[in-house]
Amino acid sequence: MTLLDAPDTPASDHPGRVQGDLMQVDHPDLRGKVAVITGAGRGMGARFAAALARRGVQVVGADLDEQLMAGTAAAIDLEHADVADAGEVLATGVDVRDRDAQQCIAELARERFGKVDLWINNAGVFPETPALDIPVSQIQSTLAINVEGVLYGAQAAASVMEPGGSIVNMASVAAARVRRGRAAYCSSKAAVAHLTECLAVEYGDIGLRVNAIAPGFVDTEMTRWVHDDPPALAKALDSIPLHRLGSPEEIVGPMLFLLSDSARYVTGHVLAVDGGSRHV
Ligand SMILES: NC(=O)c1ccc[n+]([C@@H]2O[C@H](COP(=O)([O-])OP(=O)(O)OC[C@H]3O[C@@H](n4cnc5c(N)ncnc54)[C@H](O)[C@@H]3O)[C@@H](O)[C@H]2O)c1
Repeated sequence: MTLLDAPDTPASDHPGRVQGDLMQVDHPDLRGKVAVITGAGRGMGARFAAALARRGVQVVGADLDEQLMAGTAAAIDLEHADVADAGEVLATGVDVRDRDAQQCIAELARERFGKVDLWINNAGVFPETPALDIPVSQIQSTLAINVEGVLYGAQAAASVMEPGGSIVNMASVAAARVRRGRAAYCSSKAAVAHLTECLAVEYGDIGLRVNAIAPGFVDTEMTRWVHDDPPALAKALDSIPLHRLGSPEEIVGPMLFLLSDSARYVTGHVLAVDGGSRHV
């Protein structure tokens, strides 16, 4: 299985299950643009990098795990060897908690590709501890990565982007729904959702759009544990009106939409892509 042709990963045989290649969705206006994606070493970030590069976007992929990022970039470039005018994926390391390091990737992208048009604040962590026991280190690191990381990314993006640029943050259905044992995560994603709205209001003055995607349960490394826990999987499926987990592929289309000119009058929006789970 490659990054690009990974099938949808339905977790049930429910008739709502989706078939077909969602990678066909196109946004020609994206071609020639330059994107920065944090946390692009694996999961949804890697999928966004592959989808954008395939459409002729030059991508800087930045991850805490620099080696993982380098391997992912090489795999994407290899898969695109026969794709005419595919963008390059330039791999670099970053810790999104470090504001200066995020500024460095913004400047790296501009030096290498001449500009920055698109920025995805995707890096995140998903810790689990009952609220009574959350240690100081966990709440601090969760807020630093999931919230401060988004703010610093948006600041770095604004310092290099021209009017017309688009920033997308990764929030979560957990911003609106309580998940037991995930108080640090839920509160961090609620902050991301509201931060997105705050940024959109101020960044409108400089011609930049800021939106967020709030995924539901998406089948990545972050959530892979659920396959080893049948009761937890059953409970998760029960709370999803479409009766299956989402695949990373299914977040790509909404992401491309928000980045593209199709959404040029959309800002400050938190787009739920969750199979309806925010209502259950
Ligand atoms: N998978 C889901 O069900 C789900 C649901 C809602 C929201 N999200 C959010 O979507 C985003 C991507 O999730 P995913 O499932 O692809 O996760 P993932 O764990 O598969 O990938 C996250 C990536 O972020 C990187 N990262 C972690 N800390 C970092 C840091 N300090 N600096 C730079 N990079 C760092 C990791 O190395 C990893 O490559 C996250 O923000 C996550 O909270 C995921």
